[in-house]
Amino acid sequence: MTANPHPLGTFMDLLGKEMRSRMGNDPVRDAAHRRIFGDTALEAPNNSDKPPKRQPACRYLPECFAELEKAGGNLGKLGAALRDIEPHLDWNNQAERRKSPVLADNYADCFIVGPGGYVPSSTIEIGVSVMAPHMDYPDHRHPPEELYLVLSEGEWRQNANPWHEPGVGGVVYNSPDIVHAMRAGAKPLFAIWCLPLDNKPHPQG
Ligand SMILES: [Fe+2]
Repeated sequence: MTANPHPLGTFMDLLGKEMRSRMGNDPVRDAAHRRIFGDTALEAPNNSDKPPKRQPACRYLPECFAELEKAGGNLGKLGAALRDIEPHLDWNNQAERRKSPVLADNYADCFIVGPGGYVPSSTIEIGVSVMAPHMDYPDHRHPPEELYLVLSEGEWRQNANPWHEPGVGGVVYNSPDIVHAMRAGAKPLFAIWCLPLDNKPHPQG
């Protein structure tokens, strides 16, 4: 295996492998995974002088990272790699603020890779969501398909199907434009999402 010299190399390698090992043999998921992780030639990170943005829901990050550390193994390593880059990430809740001030105070996400992200990319988007306990993220949809790596307790739903709990390390696949939602239980919800963009950015605004 060749070492990835990019600063995000450890994170990307761990994320791609962890998802691959947990998503089963579905060819549709497999194709999405290849489109996201097949070309790891990332641009250099944005080293802006501006301090990264924080949001109220970032108060849950220490607890989320501590839970991942407890999980150990590759998930623990992935959590540590994410914790290392987190100080550079801009956290947002703009789209959520337009939906509900309560949601905006209890949810935040950031783009690690993607348009306007820490590492610019027009072909893939990789981000992280954190949400307060007992909070619902309402139904939404977007043209690109999406793979989540779930890093906490919490439930996911598609269309009007029953809620299900993927568990820590579970993978959720959302087909293009499917309506989906998530909700946190007693612990904060924490998850990484990955989208191949195909020139259709994830709507964040
Ligand atoms: Fe989504």
